[in-house]
Amino acid sequence: MKNIILIGFMGVGKGSVAREMVKQADVVAIDTDDIIESMENRTIKKIFATEGEKYFRDIEAKVAKWLEKSVEDTLISTGGGFYKVKNLKKIGTVVFLDSPFDKIYERIINHPKAQNKLKKRPLFQDIDKARELYEERYPQYKNVADITIDVTDKSVEKIVKEILKKVKL
Ligand code: S3P
Repeated sequence: MKNIILIGFMGVGKGSVAREMVKQADVVAIDTDDIIESMENRTIKKIFATEGEKYFRDIEAKVAKWLEKSVEDTLISTGGGFYKVKNLKKIGTVVFLDSPFDKIYERIINHPKAQNKLKKRPLFQDIDKARELYEERYPQYKNVADITIDVTDKSVEKIVKEILKKVKL
């Protein structure tokens, strides 16, 4: 198996899908934001606040190079902007988790830890700006994806079953 890379907008559920995939399939999962936070020993929020977005994107590019060179047979969940790295397609099969902005927002605000979910995301501080970012990115996500999965109103169990049907493990 090559790697599987989950991409999609902030809050669409990439992390939840990855955790469910670990339950349903014999796979190891890693997350690019977690890797970056460990490398830097500080949160994404802190990195954005202290160093700015460009610094964060440069680390994403570095992580992407490492993934391409050194990681195999792994499920990789990513931050919402990771899909922009130049070598994305060389890392593995790209799976886009697709859902309308309003459904994503609904999912975040209905979460028991909604305030935390919003606070930790520097690019989700203003809903109008987040919506604009979504609209700008949407065609790019679709374009770079090998597989698009409509996740709207589906359980994580069902989403993972659909992914496993389309991607051979
Ligand atoms: C970002 C998404 C975040 C995180 C960072 C930037 C983005 O990850 O990588 O705040 O540019 O969309 P999530 O998609 O897990 O929120």
